[in-house]
Amino acid sequence: MNEEKKNLSQYRVVVCGLDPLCREIMNAILSPEQILDIPYDLEKLMEQVFTPPPVMLLFGTPPDGINLTEVAQVARMQNQSQPIYYLTSKRANFDRKNFQKNGFTDAFLVPIDTDTVSQTVKDDLARVTKGALRSYRQVQLIDLRPNEKLEFDTFMYMPMNKKHIKMSESGDELDEKQYDKLKKSQVNAIHVTSDQIQKFYEFSAAKLKNLQSGEGLSETERKDRMKGAIRNLMASVFNDDSSNATLDAGRGIVTDCQQIVKNFITDGKDGNAWYEKMLAVSGTEGGTYNHSGNVATFGALFSLAVGLGKPEEIALAGLLHDMGLADISPSVQSKPESERSKLEHEEYQKHVEHTLNVIKFRKMILPDTVTKAVAQHHERWSGTGYPKGLAGPRITVEAQMVALADQFDYMTMTKEGRPRMTPAAAFKVIFQQNLDNPSTAQFDLELLKKLMTVFPEDEMVAS
Ligand SMILES: [Fe+2]
Ligand SMILES: [Fe+2]
Repeated sequence: MNEEKKNLSQYRVVVCGLDPLCREIMNAILSPEQILDIPYDLEKLMEQVFTPPPVMLLFGTPPDGINLTEVAQVARMQNQSQPIYYLTSKRANFDRKNFQKNGFTDAFLVPIDTDTVSQTVKDDLARVTKGALRSYRQVQLIDLRPNEKLEFDTFMYMPMNKKHIKMSESGDELDEKQYDKLKKSQVNAIHVTSDQIQKFYEFSAAKLKNLQSGEGLSETERKDRMKGAIRNLMASVFNDDSSNATLDAGRGIVTDCQQIVKNFITDGKDGNAWYEKMLAVSGTEGGTYNHSGNVATFGALFSLAVGLGKPEEIALAGLLHDMGLADISPSVQSKPESERSKLEHEEYQKHVEHTLNVIKFRKMILPDTVTKAVAQHHERWSGTGYPKGLAGPRITVEAQMVALADQFDYMTMTKEGRPRMTPAAAFKVIFQQNLDNPSTAQFDLELLKKLMTVFPEDEMVAS
């Protein structure tokens, strides 16, 4: 234990001026002896030489009179190769590309970037500590087959115990038994350490090349790339620079959205293998970018499965549906719905209005079906939803499918301290709730019945 501690204090992280929310995120990752707090003072920063050199530097919003570009320049002079990150919860003037151009390795806007910054910092620490600190990446089980020799270690995450357990060593394979066991215990994603994720990408790319003539993406890489694309998209949406609020810029954003849908969601997918696809998407870790990507993908899959609405429009609505959450305080967002006060409920519900405002402000011209699906994704068939309390067929079918996809993602995502749930199990719960409580029902029972018929029968019986 002592030995370990000694090791950790060699890997110190310079922390400067983080606001409380950013600080809280870093406190959850770094141990106290790793944190080297310094004041926001350019002169001191210039003079100070740290021995041993820090492994990473984190800067928050500077006080008035200090220019962020100069912060990056001064920090870089002393620290040639370490990552230097800018981390803030202030949306005003947040411009990631510009920060990167001016010397920051990356810039994160929380809470929307909470998961991304946590993963990045953990990956960096795993790299510099050569694995003494571990960082894991999720890979989809669908990308692996039994009895294949794997060039990386694999781990299984136990959400109830919050632990990663090693399943196989590099050079080993997952045997048929292990693989079936995973499937039976409803595990559809396993983990590799972040320093081996590249090996996984290479492994799956080589395999896909052998399997088909064209190039393909593994499910894991598709998700990772989509997440990156959504992150860039949101950065341009939330760039406060008002010169960006032009019709041209708005068109650019919509085109980017459509590109994401085309590249990662509707790319030649037919409706046949839809449940397999569903399994492949479900069970990911939370996070803003994962959530919007998943809702878009689930929504498009529902649409394909029952032949209602246009998959690409529902996917577009799914990508955008919760953008307004960026304006809701993180403390309200992180609270479970049942624990929110009346005022907090009201604040949370405003995210729908905020999303519509962002769309308007950014001059994003969208099909009416898309805007309505976004506007109505918290309405309920029984008329008990928000913001307008619309009921029955006044809610569009696209909105119902986005709402269903939204529910699905919350129910099937991997969460600490909670057992896994398959899409079929989630569907059963939703169906039963709607059937039993018509006065508060969220969905059109007829739509649910149609969807019921496309779930594989054995999945619906077994629980
Ligand atoms: Fe929402
Ligand atoms: Fe949502």
